Amino acid sequence: MLPCQYLLYVIPVLWQVPLCLLCSFLRRPCARTGAAPFCLFGNTDGSAPAVILNTKFLRHMFLFVLKWQCAYRIAVSFCREADSDAKDGYADMTASSALPFHESPYRYFVMRNLYESAVKQLVLKLEILNSEFNTLYARNPIHHIESRVKSSESIAAKLQRKGSPVTLEAAVRDINDIAGVRVVCNYIDDVYRVAGMLERQEDLEIVKRQDYIKTPNYNGYRSLHLDVRVPVYLSNRTEHVVAEIQIRTIAMDFWASLEHDIHYKADRAKLPAGIDEEMFACAEKIAEIDRQMQDMYRRIADAEANGDAVKK
Ligand code: GTP
Ligand code: MG
Repeated sequence: MLPCQYLLYVIPVLWQVPLCLLCSFLRRPCARTGAAPFCLFGNTDGSAPAVILNTKFLRHMFLFVLKWQCAYRIAVSFCREADSDAKDGYADMTASSALPFHESPYRYFVMRNLYESAVKQLVLKLEILNSEFNTLYARNPIHHIESRVKSSESIAAKLQRKGSPVTLEAAVRDINDIAGVRVVCNYIDDVYRVAGMLERQEDLEIVKRQDYIKTPNYNGYRSLHLDVRVPVYLSNRTEHVVAEIQIRTIAMDFWASLEHDIHYKADRAKLPAGIDEEMFACAEKIAEIDRQMQDMYRRIADAEANGDAVKK
């Protein structure tokens, strides 16, 4: 939540509540309603305190809260748009972010709908695999799934980096990760297990497989990337949409999230010397922990399978 969102909660409280309390305390008619809203204190004749509610006052309060709720919701939706675009590329695509392709908004929205549908298909496939695995083996290989359709600004920026024209045709042709699904698994074995389960699916065509776990990136980045072509069944035709599936462990995801933050958010020119080397060293340490956790899990699973008591 952004600081300005908190402000929207606080303003009505700061303004209206003390005013009403003051009215009740002074037992003075409210300036807006013409009557004291309620009486909290003993009556002057010694009888029990009375609670007097005035319908005009209640209506006034109700409308006041309603107006603030509307204003709050509109403001929050604007804040969310700004906030989600700032995330690590796994942000929602919003209608207001359609600027680079504004010349053909209809085609842009048709294309966006296709990519969103592809993401839904892939997420469903993964959820089915996860629940089957859970039913058979009482464990989940998938820790969690994230997904997004790339924002139009990101698509335009990537096209420019690749030296392609900023057009919808070029985006579809040259960018494989407009639709992206990230699968975060518990152990390294789970990453390959999930990849294998996807590779066996007949309606998924594997366009490209990049194993950054066996061959990490120059900076230590690890993940398994599968670029796939997934069928999307529409009302009158079937479209085959390319999407990128990133499969990684929790440890790899931890490193990649922090590295992304530093790489994209910090001013590169102001980074202290040696940060890139340290980042690589951190990736190596995290990879070592990942291997150790994997090894422990295998030993525990073997012991359980052999019926051995697990020694503390
Ligand atoms: P292709 O070679 O055509 O696949 O280009 P690409 O832009 O898809 O590159 P790649 O598949 O290597 O990376 C795509 C995504 O992987 C990025 O958008 C990131 O989400 C992630 N990624 C790749 N390299 C890094 C990295 O060094 N750090 C982090 N944090 N993420 C990375
Ligand atoms: Mg890729």
